[in-house]
Amino acid sequence: MKDVNLGIVGLGNVGSGTLTILAENADEIARKLGFRLNVTAVCSRSVKSKNLPAGLAPKLITTDWREVVSHPDVDIVAELIGGTGTAREVVEGAIAAGKSVVTANKELVALEGVSIWKKAEAQGVTLAMEASVCGGIPIHAVLREGIAGDHIETLFGILNGTSNYILTEIEENGSAFNDVLAEAQRLGYAEADPTADVDGFDARSKLALLASLAFGVQLTPGDIPTEGIRRISPIDFHYAKQLDCTIKLLCSARRVEDGLFVSVRPALLSKKTIMAGVKGAYNAVWSRGKFGADTFYYGRGAGPNPTGVAVVSDLMRVARSLHPEPAHRVPPFAYTDLAAAKPLEIGRQHRHWYLRFRITDQPGIIRDLSSILAEHSISIDAVLQLPDLDKQNLPFVITLENSPESAVRAAVEKMSKLPFMVEPPLALPIERGV
Ligand SMILES: NC(=O)c1ccc[n+]([C@@H]2O[C@H](COP(=O)([O-])OP(=O)(O)OC[C@H]3O[C@@H](n4cnc5c(N)ncnc54)[C@H](OP(=O)(O)O)[C@@H]3O)[C@@H](O)[C@H]2O)c1
Repeated sequence: MKDVNLGIVGLGNVGSGTLTILAENADEIARKLGFRLNVTAVCSRSVKSKNLPAGLAPKLITTDWREVVSHPDVDIVAELIGGTGTAREVVEGAIAAGKSVVTANKELVALEGVSIWKKAEAQGVTLAMEASVCGGIPIHAVLREGIAGDHIETLFGILNGTSNYILTEIEENGSAFNDVLAEAQRLGYAEADPTADVDGFDARSKLALLASLAFGVQLTPGDIPTEGIRRISPIDFHYAKQLDCTIKLLCSARRVEDGLFVSVRPALLSKKTIMAGVKGAYNAVWSRGKFGADTFYYGRGAGPNPTGVAVVSDLMRVARSLHPEPAHRVPPFAYTDLAAAKPLEIGRQHRHWYLRFRITDQPGIIRDLSSILAEHSISIDAVLQLPDLDKQNLPFVITLENSPESAVRAAVEKMSKLPFMVEPPLALPIERGV
């Protein structure tokens, strides 16, 4: 099957992540598509000084985006510049040249997306913009396809990672807004001009886009009531805590009988909600449908690789649409062919462990258990025992350092035979992320 050729314009944070994934994950992408994606052209103002990932050999390396959009071999153009000036020219130039476009540009699509989409339709090409909201969370795909059958009533979002990071720092360390902002700027989490992030303008462009996808309406971002986080101080978190709440820059859209309430503003949020646990630079979207009830999506809102995944997934989606044969629609199992496989022997897996014993109390128990663990080269992490429990059926816990499951199972088997065991030990792995 014919390969699809890409032109990447903009090689900053998102462009560099996109190229890394296209280079390092090329074989896996080809297995999913059934054909290859080639990076045929790359462009940025300082392209000559960029180091391209190994394995990429573009035919065209240029500082002039016009050469990319007019290149006869380029099938899809990725606009990864940002802003509404040159980026708009790139997108419209590519469409005029009959190329499909992938963009990460929330500002452009929130303001001009509908008119750009009409131009793309008239030209018979595609526009895809997954990376424009919530970087690494595939929220466009969810709203366009995953839960398209539902009637969405409410949507809440934490859509700006910088402001969420700042609020989390104020809450956890009691620091003042200006101090946290200065630190975030020093660490590169916040821009030198933080207005778009802390005053809510970035979040409101994203909410306008999500509202189109969720409710089928075209909102002008400037019409969304917006308030930033500059006035939030440690004392507000102190009082919020008394109310069992936290404070988030909450993007909200609620459908009522005669329209939609939308806003971006700091709000108290019950600590009992899953949304309250979204901390630091993470993003999340929580939607409530009339039929499917609540669904929740969480992940990194920005960063070269998470956003790069969204761009590459869009490139794959658009590349498939260039192959009209049914075989190149999204395969139901994600890959075009499934390799026969057996799971790895689980005993090889290393995990931390929780061992819960029930014993008849007597001297020497810890000694006997530790000597069995030592025989199997397993180290103890902690021993936990609550006071005043029944000594004839005493529950206590030993946690173990990272150990192979086969050794832990063998040790548990041996421990089960000890005379003071009331029942075989309960062994549970402790999952601490992946
Ligand atoms: N950063 C994120 O995590 C993130 C997440 C989601 C969405 N986005 C969106 O993704 C887009 C790109 O963001 P970014 O953070 O990657 O920006 P960035 O780091 O500033 O990169 C912009 C790139 O565009 C190039 N560029 C600017 N003007 C150009 C021109 N006239 N001709 C050719 N190249 C030009 C720059 O070239 P030089 O390097 O040569 O100057 C740079 O390579 C924006 O729309 C942003 O909103 C970003």
